[in-house]
Amino acid sequence: MNNLQSTTQSTETETGLPGQFLNDVITGLTSSPKYLESKYFYDSIGDGLFQQIMHCPEYYPTPCELEILSKQTDVIIDLFMNSNEGFDLIELGAGDALKSSYLLQSMVAKNIDFTYYPIDISANVISNLEKKLPLHIPGLPIHGLNGEYFEMLQKSNTLSNRKKVVLFLGSNIGNMFPAEAEKFCESLRENLSSGDLLLIGFDLKKDPQTILDAYNDKQGFTRDFNLNLLNRINRELGGNFNPEHFKHYPTYDPGTGSCKSYLVSTRQQVVNISAGDSSIEFKQNECIHMEISQKYDLEEIEVLAHKTGFKPLEYFYDSKNWFVDAVWVRE
Ligand code: AVI
Repeated sequence: MNNLQSTTQSTETETGLPGQFLNDVITGLTSSPKYLESKYFYDSIGDGLFQQIMHCPEYYPTPCELEILSKQTDVIIDLFMNSNEGFDLIELGAGDALKSSYLLQSMVAKNIDFTYYPIDISANVISNLEKKLPLHIPGLPIHGLNGEYFEMLQKSNTLSNRKKVVLFLGSNIGNMFPAEAEKFCESLRENLSSGDLLLIGFDLKKDPQTILDAYNDKQGFTRDFNLNLLNRINRELGGNFNPEHFKHYPTYDPGTGSCKSYLVSTRQQVVNISAGDSSIEFKQNECIHMEISQKYDLEEIEVLAHKTGFKPLEYFYDSKNWFVDAVWVRE
């Protein structure tokens, strides 16, 4: 499951209980302009499509961040160890822990005194990690936390009072509007203590075509990833969207760094959502905003850190300078 899903409330996924998902869908589709929240992309089909996206030649963020974490592992770990005391390594939205496993492996090999606390909204993700990760990394001290980011961060405070190093990888911060990202970092600060560290991944501004291509892969996985949310509404909320009547339209504005995906209605149509007893009218060419993937430059990253009570310590770039993992210290 993707990290972003954990940033707000739980989604009663594939359980037959629509709850918050229904409310959010109806709110979004009755707003002007219409929108859907991208955290709902990640049902089991969406998770699979996101895996496909990460393996597409156009989608550079994953290999860039993997390069950083696999090639600069020791320097990153040295930074975590600056006070030579044991610490808790907390990962927000751990997923399959593929990226963090470079750090985990090396920390175990170096006999570093730490406990890994992966946080994820999916109970399945957490139980898999607790079962499988110690098989790959024997000796890994792991304590999974299943729930919301901030609730679980608070829980971790009751379990241990050691220094915290928080991982928020994958440029998941980009899936928040800049004002939301600021609030998120402020909340993170409130849940940490002075001297705690945050390693946070940002996708950087670069050649606009490179960015646009990453959200418009030739094989159509990103298109299907967006359209799957319409199918999910059909499956879980009794919707009757015809995905063939919507066109995937990604945009990138190099001025603001804002990469946005839309689904555009190719005709005038009415869609019914029976769980909400709602009929949604679409004009021809009316669009639904589906996702933001905000791109940053260094200056914006520094402003975000300072504004939200963090001090930037170090930046780790990939060899193309397309992605950065920033390490901030909580002031
Ligand atoms: C999870 N997140 C950082 C991805 C991104 O790049 O915004 C989600 C994604 N959307 C389309 N492609 C990938």
